[in-house]
Amino acid sequence: MAEPNNPVTLPEAIDKIELLRKKNADAKKGGGESRLAAQHRKGKLSARERIDLLLDEGTFEEIDRFVVHRAKDFGLDKERYLGDGVVTGYGEVNGRLVYVFSQDFTVFGGSLSETHAEKICKIMDMAMKNGAPVIGLNDSGGARIQEGVNSLGGYADIFYRNTLASGVIPQISAIMGPCAGGAVYSPAITDFILMVENTSYMFVTGPNVVKTVTQESVSAEELGGASAHSTKSGVTHFACANELDAIRHVKRLLSYIPQNCEDQAPIYPYELKKDESRTVLDTLIPDNPNHPYDMRDVVRGIVDEESFMEVHENYADNIVVGFARIAGRSVGVVGNQPQSMAGVLDNNASVKAARFVRFCDSFNVPLLVLVDVPGFLPGTDQEWNGIITNGAKLLYAFSEATVPRITVITRKAYGGAYDVMNSKHIGADLNYAWPTAEIAVMGAKGATEIIFKKEIADAADPEAKLQEKVDEYTAKFAHPYRAAARGFIDEVIFPSETRTKLIKAFKMLENKVDKLPRKKHGNIPL
Ligand code: HXC
Repeated sequence: MAEPNNPVTLPEAIDKIELLRKKNADAKKGGGESRLAAQHRKGKLSARERIDLLLDEGTFEEIDRFVVHRAKDFGLDKERYLGDGVVTGYGEVNGRLVYVFSQDFTVFGGSLSETHAEKICKIMDMAMKNGAPVIGLNDSGGARIQEGVNSLGGYADIFYRNTLASGVIPQISAIMGPCAGGAVYSPAITDFILMVENTSYMFVTGPNVVKTVTQESVSAEELGGASAHSTKSGVTHFACANELDAIRHVKRLLSYIPQNCEDQAPIYPYELKKDESRTVLDTLIPDNPNHPYDMRDVVRGIVDEESFMEVHENYADNIVVGFARIAGRSVGVVGNQPQSMAGVLDNNASVKAARFVRFCDSFNVPLLVLVDVPGFLPGTDQEWNGIITNGAKLLYAFSEATVPRITVITRKAYGGAYDVMNSKHIGADLNYAWPTAEIAVMGAKGATEIIFKKEIADAADPEAKLQEKVDEYTAKFAHPYRAAARGFIDEVIFPSETRTKLIKAFKMLENKVDKLPRKKHGNIPL
């Protein structure tokens, strides 16, 4: 049942101060108590409760609280709510300015009217002028159906601003409820998407349309829930257990990134210990080059304690990406993951890492790249789904990055993947290798089978011959010293001293200046 509060009619004979008080109170009611109760019954918070959790206490300043829609069709002229279904404004997260919009599902299902869009655009414009992140808390039934094309235009106004703001200010989208149809394209352009398990979903077309067009029966959760998008599509970077968890993630994420592209990420106080070596790293790589290990253990062994925040944890887990700190300074970490598909680069891993690298480069977050990669994944599936183009994305992203870039090769660096994974040749600043590194065109067995094919086939004992040649190839190439002899590796280091080296190296690189050739913009292989 609608509960209009008819906000544009001024009651007569009411004290002006009292009137403002009443209007403020009305605006805070959103779509009314019964709808708010329904929202809570679904396990969802209200738009204002979410803002209260996100921002430092007492810092929220609301803008456009009294904006109402201008629509008249379908009886809308008799149903207006102060704020029109979105709460917008600015405040602070850990003392840093952010702009926020929070859609109010209790008002027309949080649907986007022309004025609702104008409110969002207004704070986006302010964020651009003042250089601070925009955080969108999304909970919306999509275009306000009664408004037709006015609503579609409102969406496009937002998409356009999302695009112009990309790479200028960080944009973060938390999906707290429905986000369907073309509405998904605003979050998709932003830098990070977080979704809440079981209460949020994103899809271009919902289960009913899917059923009609493809005859598939699928629930909203299966089709576009947090689980689907964090594991299958990679649309969302974080699947969060509940709304509080999502908001905690947003706050933590902000702690690693600067306010805008001209700014640096905050430096956390860190007192250097006398000895920063981590001996655990010396024994982490298994003796057998085919045995896996967890690259996250390497990351944790290098970075400040408890500082690693993994991004896209459940998607393309053959590559690990995330933020961390080294002696208080923010870094973006990219590492092949030998414990999943031997750390091979495939379509999904390439795109995941490329997008992350570009975020870091856009926002001055230095890159640490940990390499243990047997190459690109072969097969029709990979080729037909564009491993050429997708692998090129990662190559392009690294090559174009002007932030400080350091590589540590822990084990394998084979073939084209050696080049792609932030090699010296594509502009990395410092390239280290552990003594366990193997830098070669391919693994010893594969290489031997190709170059000594005839000799092995003609041998009296082909297996013994193969082994002999494998040993010969291993001795020649399965180490970092040839690359070090050419200067492609700056130093072969003990694993335990990696952290100490990186603390010094990132500090040395903190004033790095590197510019790309003048151009309108590059043409990344999309
Ligand atoms: C206007 C809407 C609305 C909408 C919901 N409401 N969606 N009003 N425009 N798009 C209103 C309902 O009428 C209802 O009003 C209140 O919000 C809550 O909706 P319910 O259906 O009761 O809630 P629930 O059962 O939780 O279902 C939520 C829902 C469903 C799944 C989002 O409302 C729904 O399917 N809505 C339509 C979604 C849709 O097709 N949107 C357009 C997509 S196309 P009362 O008064 O009863 O509280 C699109 C194009 C964007 O968005 C293109 C951009 C380029």
